[in-house]
Amino acid sequence: MTIVEHKWSALPVPYAIEVLDRVPKERYYDPDFYQMEVELLWPRVWQLACRLEEIPEPGDYAEYQILDQSVVVVRAEDMGVRAFHNVCRHRGVRLAQGRGSRRGGFVCPFHGWCYGTDGRNTRVTQSGAFSEHNLQAAELDLTPVRCETWGGSAWINLDDEAPPLRACIEPFATVQDEWRAESLRAEWWYACRLPVNWKLAEEAFVEQYHVLATHPQLRIPGRVPPRDPADFDPRVFVEAELHYLRVMSEGMDGMVHARDVEIAETLQDLELPAEYQLARSTWERHLNDAVTRTHRERGCVVPDLNELQEHGFNEPMGYCFPHHFVLPMYSSASSYRFRPLGPEETLMEIWSLTRFPEGAEPETPPVPEWWESDDPRWPPIPIQDFSNLARQQRGLHDKSFEYMRLSERNEGHISNFHRMLDGFLAGLPYEKLLPALRKVNVNPLEMPVVEMAF
Ligand code: FES
Ligand SMILES: [Fe+2]
Repeated sequence: MTIVEHKWSALPVPYAIEVLDRVPKERYYDPDFYQMEVELLWPRVWQLACRLEEIPEPGDYAEYQILDQSVVVVRAEDMGVRAFHNVCRHRGVRLAQGRGSRRGGFVCPFHGWCYGTDGRNTRVTQSGAFSEHNLQAAELDLTPVRCETWGGSAWINLDDEAPPLRACIEPFATVQDEWRAESLRAEWWYACRLPVNWKLAEEAFVEQYHVLATHPQLRIPGRVPPRDPADFDPRVFVEAELHYLRVMSEGMDGMVHARDVEIAETLQDLELPAEYQLARSTWERHLNDAVTRTHRERGCVVPDLNELQEHGFNEPMGYCFPHHFVLPMYSSASSYRFRPLGPEETLMEIWSLTRFPEGAEPETPPVPEWWESDDPRWPPIPIQDFSNLARQQRGLHDKSFEYMRLSERNEGHISNFHRMLDGFLAGLPYEKLLPALRKVNVNPLEMPVVEMAF
């Protein structure tokens, strides 16, 4: 095992990234490495704890578990959102489980201690039987957890010293604000238990290099410029674009929303220039315009997609270290969250997000049961991604395999992400981590390896 001692760090990082485009395999299963993540990463990062539509009314709560910690996120009487360590201060029973509503506060099932939705202890049953030092009022309230809301979700951080949420998730937050992420609503929410390390699971989705091999149905002739420009046929191009949108929409059961596919289909007779690049930009402009207009006419909050394009915000993916990313497409998006369940086990969730007129939002999807990765209820595209993962995790244990060799140009985000992680594992102070976070919280697709300069 090579241990790299960084000049800025008291903590040596095992299996650190030394060659920028190589990832040592032990980072995906070594129990000591995993333990370092447990102690040095997860307690210091902002985590997407729940979507706000899960807790619309005062007293609504949602439990968020990370490793062996549990946090209860509560909608307070003043409509603010607060979070507490989810544990009774008498003998440690978890107070809340899953999701629900407790306008009257939480009652511990064991001996009946009571807590308000503001975390205040409101009742100690038979309190006269306790000695004075066990009844110090300030010590009986639920212990608060840092909590902020942004982008339609509540976020928690177990470190009271961490910088505010926004400082840690830029420029992701700015780009998603332009997309009006806060007005997206969940149409469905699914969860998968994957027999792989959490980083391996994430890395299956953050590059486009795998698309042609893993998702051959997305290899659609007519979408790319022909070798001889004279062969370009705008009619074939439009058909290919429509076919792509349908395959994406069905493959993800969203992301490209079925409603946006219908909008695109109304443009199928659009006259396009006979030159590829001009035809593509004309097509995109008309489609963006039609999507924006149609959803605004329905009464939805939707960004002007052509303005997003002009200002450079029309990114197909936004990454938010360490466990969340979103893929916005036209009016809608797919949103992902990853949590470790062990060195080689991951809980991965997908939300399909779209827009609704105010007052016409659907019921919030139920907290998902954990499907296996080959469950037939998964849409076709995630099933294809999952099918590689278990094989890859097993392959990493092969004696002959030492490290992943990354494409410097197509898989650079994976290197950037791992070096960001090494910054946390080295115990770096936030002022060193923040500039690096800004380099990771970007569109990871085709991101090259960048200098992290801790
Ligand atoms: S453990 Fe909660 S009241 Fe006893
Ligand atoms: Fe994929």
